[in-house]
Amino acid sequence: MAFDRAFLDELNARSDILDVVSHYVQLKKSGSYYFGLCPFHNEKSGSFCVTPEKQMFHCFGCGAGGGVLSFIMRAEGLTFPDAVRFQAAQIGMQVPESRADPRETHRRDRLLALSTDAARFFRQQLWLPENQAVAAYFLRRGLSRKTMNRFGLGYAPDSFSALLDAMCEKGYAKEELLDAGLASRSEKGRVYDRFRNRVMFPIIDVRGQVIAFGGRVMDDSKPKYLNSPETSIFHKSRNLFALNLARKTKSDYFILAEGYMDVIALHQAGFDSAVASLGTALTEEQVRLISRHTGKVVISYDADGAGQAAAQRAIDLLKKTDLQVKVLRIPGAKDPDEFIKEKGADAYRKLIERSESDNAYRLDAIAAKYDLDEDEERVRFLHDAAAMLAKIDGAVEREVYAGRAAKMARVTSEAMAVEVRRALAVQQKKQKAAEKREVRAVVNAAQPRDRTLQYQNVRSAKAEEGIIRLIFADDSLIGEVAQQITPQEFTAQVLQKIFAHALTLHRQGHRVDVPAFEGYLEDNEMQHLTAVLGRDRASTQNWQQALHDYISTIERCRMKSGGSGGGEDPLLRMSRIHREKNRLGGNRI
Ligand code: UTP
Ligand code: MN
Repeated sequence: MAFDRAFLDELNARSDILDVVSHYVQLKKSGSYYFGLCPFHNEKSGSFCVTPEKQMFHCFGCGAGGGVLSFIMRAEGLTFPDAVRFQAAQIGMQVPESRADPRETHRRDRLLALSTDAARFFRQQLWLPENQAVAAYFLRRGLSRKTMNRFGLGYAPDSFSALLDAMCEKGYAKEELLDAGLASRSEKGRVYDRFRNRVMFPIIDVRGQVIAFGGRVMDDSKPKYLNSPETSIFHKSRNLFALNLARKTKSDYFILAEGYMDVIALHQAGFDSAVASLGTALTEEQVRLISRHTGKVVISYDADGAGQAAAQRAIDLLKKTDLQVKVLRIPGAKDPDEFIKEKGADAYRKLIERSESDNAYRLDAIAAKYDLDEDEERVRFLHDAAAMLAKIDGAVEREVYAGRAAKMARVTSEAMAVEVRRALAVQQKKQKAAEKREVRAVVNAAQPRDRTLQYQNVRSAKAEEGIIRLIFADDSLIGEVAQQITPQEFTAQVLQKIFAHALTLHRQGHRVDVPAFEGYLEDNEMQHLTAVLGRDRASTQNWQQALHDYISTIERCRMKSGGSGGGEDPLLRMSRIHREKNRLGGNRI
């Protein structure tokens, strides 16, 4: 981590979560906590809870949670270091020169250098005489040499070791290629090139560094695209293809496309603000990233059903910010790339000019489902349209589009208004009920909300959660807890990570509270921690008995899952024996 722990402690001690959150959310006191409408998802009932005592927030609706800095990261769309600087400036603290762990920085720098070198290697391959067919592939698809260079396009040869060999020769280790997601390991342990016989699209971050690749086959084989996995330098949900170029645009809008090829074709045609998400549906983080660079987005997805469904989802996400959203529709072609190739840039510019607001787009999509010359169908259209209109937040906007819907169905605007009011009432009731259900489900859930954190052994994990709650309720207990159980005995990885960090903090004389975990836990892990801690402080009245029960549960679970064959890990066994001795000693006194 880049910041000094003592500085972060000081920053946290001087920050008050209630104070910070109140700038963004209207809070109502209830007992020792505060409730409000969650700023991170759309809701009508307040599931967002701040617990000043623990200096944490948690939303029982969407699961967001953390301390002051996590809140600022989300609310302001900042990275952890920037959130630290932001908050320090707010309360007038000087940020000490960051002292990043030199080894970690070195490792990252090497992975970045390796990715850049790999991109260079792929690019060189593209222009070799024996790979003429590859360059011809891009040319056939209408890309100029200039565009290919601008995007750093390349070719991964049809070989299991071409890149490995070239990079090892430059002094990189196989391990580093694995870490950069450029190589894979077979079951037998052999390391081989991940990308083979594919045209390569480097993914470049806003600082201009190559962080990952997408690789496309040149025929119809599957998978069409292979992308880099998540690595320590690449998080696909936090980056956008071509953002490095689009951020320099002079247009006051971004074009959001689906595919790498669409973005490249758009840029080549002069639309230099086109970006795409990276092989997955648009994420909230990407939306925040976009909103940092522009105020307006034109969605230009594929014309097929999947593309249109994705557009509806993108509208939902984009509208959570104050971005203005328009949707462009392509007549008679499947995607922007194809359209531009057939009809040219000017024709596409006209489509942008004619693109509709998100609401108009939605109304049209509904109208397309019905034959408005049939009375029956008109009634059903009105019903559907009213439900959609009820979801529009602003009253004025709602009325404008209600008028439009009325015209489409040829009814009076009064009749439409009645229908919309009815839909509004139904929707509000439904939403409240859904939110209540959701909160209840989260509170009772056995498994973490985030699937990637799934517990292997729920019973054991529940006991481990209990231990975590104990030490967060009173961090002076940690010393004794540590005598009785080690992090290795935790079965749930995320809880193990939390417990281990708590021990480290405690040993170094720091407080153990939620803010001390910020910048250390990943976002999803932090959310899980706040979910585990819940609203109420754990009781520490009978903590010895509670701890004893938790540990027995964990041990019983381990016996069961480990079988009777004496498969106990030697290290764990030693620690168990040590603990048992300790406990005996304790009893005698
Ligand atoms: P498309 O299939 O629309 O790709 O997928 P495209 O970019 O238009 O490519 P061409 O024109 O067929 O060459 C859209 C995006 O979805 C991701 C890629 O990011 C792609 O650009 N994708 C698609 C994958 O990650 N894997 C796949 O197998 C397919
Ligand atoms: Mn395409």
